[in-house]
This record gives sequence, structure tokens and C-alpha cells, in this order.
Amino acid sequence: MSISTVLNLFFCGIFRDEELLGVYEDICERLVLHSEVISKEDKEVFERFIEKVCKIMNSKSLANAMPSFNSLTDPQPSTSQMLHSDTPVGRGLKPGKRFRHLDVTSEGVLRISYNKNLTMEKPELYMKNSVLAQNDADYVLNKYLSVFQTNNNNIVLDVGCGPGNVTYEKLLPLLPTSTKQIIGVDISNNNIEYARQHYQMDPKVSYEKLDIRTDTIPNKYVEAFDLIVSLYCFHLVGDHKKAFNNIYKMLKPGGKVLISFISKSLIPDMYQYVYDNPKWTKYMSNFKDVVFKPQTDEFTKKLFDEIGFVQVRSEERENTYTYNEEYAYGIIKSLNFFDVPKDLEKEFIENQFEYCENSGYVDVDDNGKKQYHFSHTLFVITAGKS
Ligand SMILES: C[S@@+](CC[C@H](N)C(=O)[O-])C[C@H]1O[C@@H](n2cnc3c(N)ncnc32)[C@H](O)[C@@H]1O
Repeated sequence: MSISTVLNLFFCGIFRDEELLGVYEDICERLVLHSEVISKEDKEVFERFIEKVCKIMNSKSLANAMPSFNSLTDPQPSTSQMLHSDTPVGRGLKPGKRFRHLDVTSEGVLRISYNKNLTMEKPELYMKNSVLAQNDADYVLNKYLSVFQTNNNNIVLDVGCGPGNVTYEKLLPLLPTSTKQIIGVDISNNNIEYARQHYQMDPKVSYEKLDIRTDTIPNKYVEAFDLIVSLYCFHLVGDHKKAFNNIYKMLKPGGKVLISFISKSLIPDMYQYVYDNPKWTKYMSNFKDVVFKPQTDEFTKKLFDEIGFVQVRSEERENTYTYNEEYAYGIIKSLNFFDVPKDLEKEFIENQFEYCENSGYVDVDDNGKKQYHFSHTLFVITAGKS
């Protein structure tokens, strides 16, 4: 049965209210997993359908169980805003765990996509395989942090704090004891919850959910921070301009930023390789959002200058790490940004390994064991606000 037929049945009043949420999930699944679309002709009925589903969700208080918007950063859109805008609506409706973004495009076609950061929503898996992030955090913090430790009572923000281990175990010990407060923010609820449970033993430290690309920075964050740190996050943030602008706004005059992210690596090409295989394309609808484009040093520095940052300095550092097969598998698994069904996950990862082998990232050691050489360029940028 096509979506069009389902909507027709809805129009004829065939479904009972208690069936509609199931029908809704089914339609979402078709839109996402099977790349079906809602045609222009069906748009009006679909809008009525969504309106009805929203009413049912609200009456069942599902809105509380599954918050439909990020209360910190997003004004709650009304149902009519969600349905009648010509521009992508985004984040308006969160019908289930997997479908977070509802877009009505100017052609009247509806798309639903996944929450972008599925990968990093698995704090334990991420931490287990984040040796790279931890090594680079050590390098960046030890080399640069001392430069900034001038004020007492600093209020510090860690953007993209992940599960909180780096914030708590690496950043906190290197800050002066006079530091007043450290807030870790992250787009992922799972990470924030995890960080609160595991890395909040010091009363100075707290965690809150925030998308650094938000249109509305919470008032309490505007010009609130003496130091903003962000480690290993910006390669996952598509809209650098928006995000760096927000960071600038959140910085107190005289404040400093220290940001590092991966500016080049094999990952974009590896994902392109699997994306080009029709078997995987349908599970990678968020491919263009999450796979960062390699950024040049000049691009980011120019952006910083335009925004108004002063004393902009940067460093590029190329690293190659060698892993055995098991560890390389763990890394690739922990980086999984896509909603590939569980039973296909192994094959999906094997295809990524295939790319590594075909592209010369693998060799065999004297004992006949495969060695994976993953290289990336770490970009570090520091700046201030006058
Ligand atoms: C690779 S982890 C890094 C975690 C930690 N900083 C570290 O060094 O290990 C990147 C984190 O950035 C977060 N992130 C991605 N996009 C974000 C955004 N737009 N706003 C805030 N956090 C974001 C992800 O959820 C993830 O937890």
C-alpha cells in the first residue's frame, strides 16, 4: 500500500484514533528508509493527518514523554508553523526516537530525517574508542590552555562536551582552582544525561543541552563566558559560520576561545564510498549533514576575522595512528552516523574497511596481522574578543 493510499484511507475515516500513531510511524519509516515522498496532491490530506496526530500526541501527553523541541534553544513551533511553512521546519515534531526532523519543502514534498548525531549518542561506545580524541585533547589543552589562565573566577564553556570525560578528567584539572564554573554543552541528550551521571562530582561542573548552531542563544549564555573551549566537535557541525558567531556572542569582552577539530581525514571519502553503493544510500539520508567537508586553515581564519575575533592564531597538525583490526573496527563502529539496521551493521562496516584496503590505508605486519593506518589533520584555533 502506498503512502497515498494510506492517506486516502485516513481521509475516508477508516483509521481509529488509537491506530493513527502506528500509521504515522509507518509513514515516517517509508519516508526515511524507503525514500518515499508525499506528493503535492497529498499534501493537504497529509497536513490534516499530522494535525490529528499532534492532537492525539498532546492529549496523550506524549509531548512530555518525548519532548518535541529543545526547550533551551528552540521556540516551540505551533502546529500551523510546522505545517504551513515553505521553508524547512525542522525539530518541530519528534514522533519517535528515530525521526526528529520534519521538513516541508517549497515543492510541497515532505521529508523526515534522523537526528544528526546518532553516532555520538552512544557515550560508552564512544569513550571506549575515543583514544584519538583523548590524545588530541591532551595535546591541545596542555599546549594552549596555560596561555589563557589569566583571570580568576573564570566561567568556562565546553562546546560538544560529549560524555563529559574530557571535560571532567582533562579540562577541569588544567583550569586554575579559582575557576568558578564549567558548563559542558552538547546537542545529544544521551551524552548530557551520561555526563551528569558520571562526570559531575565537582559542584563547579554542570552539563546542559545546546545545539551550538541555535538561532536563539539562551539569555543566560550571552556574554557569559571568559573561556570557551571546544574539542573534537566542529567537524560534526555543518554550519561553522552560525556556530562561531554564537560562540562570539557567548564570549565576554576580553574572553578567549580554544577550538580544535579534525579538518582533514579519510572519513569523508570513506563514507562517500559506501554512500555511492545503492545498498547503503537509503540509510544515509543525513550523509550531507554529518559528513564534514574538509576545511582549510584560511577558510576558518577568515571566518574568525569577519566575525570580529581578534588575535586569531591557528595550527594544523597531521597525525597517523596505527591500529589492529579489532580496534579499527571499534573506531569505525563508534563513528557510525547512520541508521543502518542492526543486522546489516557488520556488512556496512566491512564495506568501509574495503575502502581502507583499496585506498592503501592497510598493510600486513610480520605476523600476518592487518594494520590500519588512519591519518587526520587536527586544526587548532585560538582567538579573543576585544
Ligand atoms: C567527537 S565528540 C567530542 C567529545 C569531547 N569533546 C571529546 O573531546 O571527546 C563530539 C561531540 O560534539 C557534539 N555535537 C555535534 N554537533 C553539535 C552541535 N551542533 N552542538 C553541540 N554539540 C554538538 C556531539 O554530540 C558529540 O558529543
